Amino acid sequence: MTWINLNGLFLISNSSNFAFGFSTTQDATQFLLVVVHTGSSKVIWSANRGSPVSSSDKFIFGEDGKVSLQKGDAVVWTADTGGKRVSAVEMQDSGNLVLLGNGGSVLWQSFETSYRYTYIEPGFCRWNETCFQTPQPYWSIQKESRMIINKDGGKVAVASLSGNSWRFYDGNKVFLSQFIFSDSSDANGTWIAVLGNDGFISFYNLDDGGSDSQTKIPSDPCSRPEPCDAHYVCSGNNVCQCPLGLSDRPNCQAEVVSSCDGSTELVSAGDRLNYFALGFVPPSSRTDLEGCKSACHGNCSCLAFFFQSSSGNCFLFSDIGSFQNSHAGSSFVAYIKVSSDGGSGSNAGGDGSGKKSFPIVVIIVIGTLIVICGLLYMAFRYHRKKEEDARISPLHLRRR
Ligand SMILES: *[C@@H]1O[C@H](CO)[C@@H](O)[C@H](O)[C@H]1NC(C)=O
Ligand SMILES: *[C@@H]1O[C@H](CO)[C@@H](O)[C@H](O)[C@H]1NC(C)=O
Ligand SMILES: *[C@@H]1O[C@H](CO)[C@@H](O)[C@H](O)[C@H]1NC(C)=O
Repeated sequence: MTWINLNGLFLISNSSNFAFGFSTTQDATQFLLVVVHTGSSKVIWSANRGSPVSSSDKFIFGEDGKVSLQKGDAVVWTADTGGKRVSAVEMQDSGNLVLLGNGGSVLWQSFETSYRYTYIEPGFCRWNETCFQTPQPYWSIQKESRMIINKDGGKVAVASLSGNSWRFYDGNKVFLSQFIFSDSSDANGTWIAVLGNDGFISFYNLDDGGSDSQTKIPSDPCSRPEPCDAHYVCSGNNVCQCPLGLSDRPNCQAEVVSSCDGSTELVSAGDRLNYFALGFVPPSSRTDLEGCKSACHGNCSCLAFFFQSSSGNCFLFSDIGSFQNSHAGSSFVAYIKVSSDGGSGSNAGGDGSGKKSFPIVVIIVIGTLIVICGLLYMAFRYHRKKEEDARISPLHLRRR
């Protein structure tokens, strides 16, 4: 085995195309154990995507033949070799990391049929690894219009990248459909599919320094979970606007609460909205707007709902990402649950009456001040006059 320390990479393939070792997380504070393509710096596999380690933690290839990554005293990753002792770790020119047993048998490999050259970046959800409590789908092969169908109706079991095409097969390896992500002129490249932090699946050509095919899944940037911050309406690339119903709230946020202790109210975010998950999840119920409101109000985990009057479909959600501008025919009313006592402007009605009463209060205060000043002035005049009278009278008397 050759040990080379090259920016934390300690095992390099014969052709030097791929390396195994440590790379930093995006914020450069912690470390991931990875297989990386050296030319493009693209990560193609990671042992501990969800639990990065610190600089004092260790990758251990023990005398007992076990391969593991430790974080403090905890094991965050270990290769499942079925209890067999590993005698060698090999970084192959294909990018496959292989653990070999006695006699060269393969005990474990980073390539599995369906995950070959596909990678999910850590922190794909903006908040943290656990993301939404209940996962919300935003793309499916069945609804992808760019899919080229080879055989209808099968259930996808295997996906593989082959040239410029992402191919899908059923359990019996029957070719079902493909997604062509690049033109045929660079079909010979070594392509990887990456589910990025931004929610897009993007395709990169490793032979071409990791250049991006530009074709992304999904095609509409606004149909990702969080192209914008929560509650903002996405329309086109990097265009985020606070919806009308929340525009008088600080930062477009509304102290969203999921609770049912009675101190909550539902505020309308707008009535011409859409939401990325609505095309992929079944409605919670079929009802009218009042029914949908009370379903969310009485459900502790409901944080927002979408209602479509044309169909009566009511969708309840326990987490919420950004909204979309509605396209013709699929317009929803959106309400979110907020705390009814806390926060500035949490009650629009109160605000309105507050504004109305403002001049009345001013008039009363000013009027009172004028009356008091008037009384003080009269009292002052009266006092002065009496004093003057008292001072003058003796003279008068004397003159008299
Ligand atoms: C992620 O969020 C969940 C739920 O809010 C929380 O329980 C968990 O501790 C968070 N994890 C990290 C690593 O911040
Ligand atoms: C791809 O590779 C094959 C075999 O190496 C070659 O015959 C073909 O011309 C190449 N295609 C392109 C577009 O480079
Ligand atoms: C309560 O709301 C959650 C979403 O927050 C939803 O998944 C669930 O079905 C709702 N429960 C009922 C009984 O409607």
